[in-house]
Amino acid sequence: MGTTIFTVMSALANESGAVNLGQGFPDFECDPVLVKQVSQAMQEGLNQYPPMIGVAPLREAVAAKIEKLYGHHYDPQAEITVTAGATQAILTIMLAVVHPGDEVIVLEPCYDSYVPNIDMAGGVVVRVPLTPGTFRPDFDKIQAAITPKTRALLINSPHNPSGMVWRHEEMLQLQDILRPTNIVLISDEVYEHMVYEPLQHHSASSYPGLANRAFVVSSFGKSYHVTGWKVGTVAAPASLTAEFRKVHQFNVFTVNTPVQYGIARYMNDPKPYTELPHFYQQKRDLFRLGLSKTKFKLLPGEGTYFQCVDISELNVPEKNLGEAEFCKWLTREVGVAAIPMSAFYGNGFDQNVIRFCFAKQDQTLHKALERLAKL
Ligand SMILES: Cc1ncc(COP(=O)(O)O)c(C=O)c1O
Repeated sequence: MGTTIFTVMSALANESGAVNLGQGFPDFECDPVLVKQVSQAMQEGLNQYPPMIGVAPLREAVAAKIEKLYGHHYDPQAEITVTAGATQAILTIMLAVVHPGDEVIVLEPCYDSYVPNIDMAGGVVVRVPLTPGTFRPDFDKIQAAITPKTRALLINSPHNPSGMVWRHEEMLQLQDILRPTNIVLISDEVYEHMVYEPLQHHSASSYPGLANRAFVVSSFGKSYHVTGWKVGTVAAPASLTAEFRKVHQFNVFTVNTPVQYGIARYMNDPKPYTELPHFYQQKRDLFRLGLSKTKFKLLPGEGTYFQCVDISELNVPEKNLGEAEFCKWLTREVGVAAIPMSAFYGNGFDQNVIRFCFAKQDQTLHKALERLAKL
């Protein structure tokens, strides 16, 4: 396995002094109140191993939040587990439920850890493309990919890299397709609080026929601007959670204590996540407005902090280099780092689309837009 494109592009951005709109992380600080809550937990001496499944106040806060937002009650003791971020959660799910030879369906393009995680569990990766251009799920293709060996299906809404958000009707359609099967659903919802008007997030937990078979994965890194803290949660029915925890206890065991207590206290205030869509919608609008004055063609930006663009109409010959080489050129010569969409496909499918991250200070976005305006 090679080094991920995110690491490669971030290193190149550093070397070239480029504005890094490649890897998905904010270039601004998180809420000082959150830092204070975590520091306070450390000062109170909450620094030793917590329970394997996560500290009770955090599991309770997460269960209460899910019930309020998505209408499904999870038992915090038996159905919520704290993880070292979503990446660890997804690997642990794979190791817990996928047996060698089991098929696991992924919808491409997809986050880069899914496929290696299935490989590590000995599973067989079954790739189903999202519809090129719109990145909407193609239910005929999903249905056609299901076989008696299908063990799990992975979905991700809001979607990285495209920013597409699943609609209520699509969740219902998925529920119908899965109803006659025993397929486990893995629903990666790390961008749940980044969905823009007039859309809203539809969690798998809101649909009884999905919730009863789903691992719902969330990440505080995304919601609270602390990607480096690597803390997330998995919500799943008790029987699935029991399997999950068998693996969790031996590959992570516990997640750091003071951060768990700090986040639990911070969650008493819903504002940081209820106001997040508005916060990021402004950044999305600023960035889209700037790009609309260039020859980059904007793709829909329904959710996440990513904006994809088509490069076919640019006035530079480098647009024909292929997405990956174009991104390297853009980083070195124009001074803005982006990620090629092809990095999210197993076969490197190239459709002249690249991804920018707009989780940046307005001044960073203006600087990038100034540079991109030259193309
Ligand atoms: C779709 C998706 N899932 C999971 C993750 C990983 O989240 P975490 O940092 O909590 O491991 C990311 C991070 O970029 C992501 O984009």
